[in-house]
Amino acid sequence: MKDKILNILIQADGYISGQRLCEMLGVSRTAIWKVINKLKEEGYVIKAISNKGYCLMQVPDKIEEYVYKYEMKTKWIGKQIICLDEVNSTNTFAKKIGDKEDAHGCLIITDNQIAGRGRRGRSWSIQKGEDIACSLVLKPQLEAKEASMLTLIAAMAVQKGISYTLSECQKDIESLDILNKNIQIKWPNDIVYNKKKVCGILTEMNADMDGISYVIIGIGINVNKIGIPEELKHMATSIKIESGITIHRAKLVSYIMEQFEHLYDVFMETKDFSRLKKDYESYLVNYANEVVVLHPKESFSGICRGISEKGDLIIEDEKGNIKEVFSGEVSVRGIYGYV
Ligand code: BTN
Repeated sequence: MKDKILNILIQADGYISGQRLCEMLGVSRTAIWKVINKLKEEGYVIKAISNKGYCLMQVPDKIEEYVYKYEMKTKWIGKQIICLDEVNSTNTFAKKIGDKEDAHGCLIITDNQIAGRGRRGRSWSIQKGEDIACSLVLKPQLEAKEASMLTLIAAMAVQKGISYTLSECQKDIESLDILNKNIQIKWPNDIVYNKKKVCGILTEMNADMDGISYVIIGIGINVNKIGIPEELKHMATSIKIESGITIHRAKLVSYIMEQFEHLYDVFMETKDFSRLKKDYESYLVNYANEVVVLHPKESFSGICRGISEKGDLIIEDEKGNIKEVFSGEVSVRGIYGYV
């Protein structure tokens, strides 16, 4: 009954009368009223006006399908949303779905990821109930070598999603301006806030001779957690720590996915960064800075000159030679630290 009422309220997109709810569900007004009260206790904000009926105004920040259905304003992402109380890794879970024909746009979200995976074999931990761990399944018409560019698209979407979410809470123009400048992309897969990492992206792919079967974009964001381990404090932070604002995670995921959809469409027209490069570079924390490129075989330093149309990082070494670095196995550091 709770599920049915929530579904109707979400689809109503405005007020629905108590009478209409009774008719639709074949139950009494008292029964409806009891469920509405139960939902209010769970954090759903439902306005009741005599002669108009009930209207769902706000959903709680829970990892529940209804919450995400209500918040998501996307066209194709999240038509299938899987919300999990706990999982080892949303990316690993997503791989089980990836081969299915209708998996494109499927979103997996969890409240507690107990064996999260990071890039280059590292682990990724989240604070239960405070952070975001989600994976988006894509089945793009791309060649395998082009798939790494999707990480950059995701990074742009996260940067824009965080900025937009904060701008909703922070109306003061000056603070907004500062805020927008402080949320940046660290090529290829990190988002930094005041130069410390708030988000990591892990892109995984399954491809064979016939092309890509699926790509999984795994996004981990330190959202409302306030405890960062002492040894990571110099390079990691959360949105809450930096802004003081408690974020509604479902709203943030929804903005990120809206941005991703738009950027993905633009990207897929050319399958390169020709139309997105300028925008990407305006948020690139490494831009015009001296960086060290850490490669398993050979590390080198130089000045970052942006990205190429293929999404590679452009580095000018001390002799003025230009090198293009593919994201595959490398990691980039600032000359004095993380950025
Ligand atoms: C990194 O910076 O090394 C990438 C971290 C990626 C973490 C996310 S959380 C959701 C998804 N599931 C995982 O196991 N990893 C990614």
